[in-house]
Amino acid sequence: VSVRALGARRIVTCDPARGALGVVEDGVLVVDGARIAYVGPRSQAPQVEAFVDFGTRVITPGLIDAHTHACWLGSRHAEYAIRMAGGDYRAVARAGGGILATHRAVASAREEDLAAALAARLGRMATLGVTTVEVKSGYGLEAAHEKKQLAAIARAAGHRDVPAVVPTFLALHALPDSARAHRAAYVDRVAGELVPEVARERLARFVDAYVDAEAFTIEEARAVGNAARAAGLGLRLHVGQFADIGGAELAASLGAVTADHLEHVSPGGIEALATARVAAVLLPMASVSLRQPPPPVAALRAAGVPLIVASDANPGTAPTESLPLAMAFAVHAYGLTPEEALLGATRNAAHGLGLGDRGLLREGARADVVVWDLPHEQAIVQPWGVAKTHTVIIGGREIAAGASVSTGN
Ligand code: NIG
Ligand code: FE
Repeated sequence: VSVRALGARRIVTCDPARGALGVVEDGVLVVDGARIAYVGPRSQAPQVEAFVDFGTRVITPGLIDAHTHACWLGSRHAEYAIRMAGGDYRAVARAGGGILATHRAVASAREEDLAAALAARLGRMATLGVTTVEVKSGYGLEAAHEKKQLAAIARAAGHRDVPAVVPTFLALHALPDSARAHRAAYVDRVAGELVPEVARERLARFVDAYVDAEAFTIEEARAVGNAARAAGLGLRLHVGQFADIGGAELAASLGAVTADHLEHVSPGGIEALATARVAAVLLPMASVSLRQPPPPVAALRAAGVPLIVASDANPGTAPTESLPLAMAFAVHAYGLTPEEALLGATRNAAHGLGLGDRGLLREGARADVVVWDLPHEQAIVQPWGVAKTHTVIIGGREIAAGASVSTGN
């Protein structure tokens, strides 16, 4: 059936035209092909033969994970054990672990195997209610392996029952051993050759760089940011995860769409983000796993910086694939309200990926929809670590997943 209607006691549209969360009570949502044809009160809904009443199960837009490093192979369990016993993430990295450990696994892998691992991960994300995922490269580090990783991301995106994928070229993540003695030449090559090539071959929509005290400098990231702009790609930046070196100000001056992490950011940096309309991507799984204090969320909120919540899914700092878990920690550890966490994983996340037709339920929008096995949207952040979805629809297609037995909570 290409036209079908879903009824529920509570439909959370996240449509700003309907107010904060845009809740429709006793609502109906009509899906026609890949698009939403109607959302509103049952009394005004068009008559559709294929109608399913979901009763007290709440309906929301599909979740959007706007920051992941989900394309990887290998396991960093030993490093995790060391860190949990008090070891320092950056000390592990300096000793050749961390990003470089995953780099070795990715560099020696075939594109097909990387794609298969990512596709499996994406499939599991979909069962958690995630319908769009941003996936970064950044473990290839050398040109050929970065392009292989981006090709693997494109290949995985073509699988069945996976979320829509937005690929990002994480151009500067760590300096590979092969470039140790040629740092400036490495950055020049990335900015001057690789970014334009990635754009030409349409391998990514965004460029990212890790701007931090033990990562890449403001000047290095600026070169890559300018190259992204010249190539017509959007920009998102890892800033202030460990130290504030002015990354937020850089993101603002380069017209980045998002500044991600922000555990360390000054009042001036926050002001710059607000003025330039750069959204903040909050990554609670990373700061919790690193046992860091949260970013200055109250100040970001007060300045009017849009808040996005993402998983940061990666084999080191954010050992989870679950955006709902990140939302739960955004509430528990960062003090977001459940409403802010939901908007940060739907409407704001869509905006931060340049996807105006997603993250909200309205006529004409893409039919990315979750029917939760939960009675209220506030409950999404409460049951930690389980999939509480009943039905997940991605681009109008219902995926074969979700809970089949309702527990009512
Ligand atoms: O977002 N900050 C750098 N990148 C990742 C960590 C990647 C890794 O440890 O593999 C992050 O936390
Ligand atoms: Fe990250």
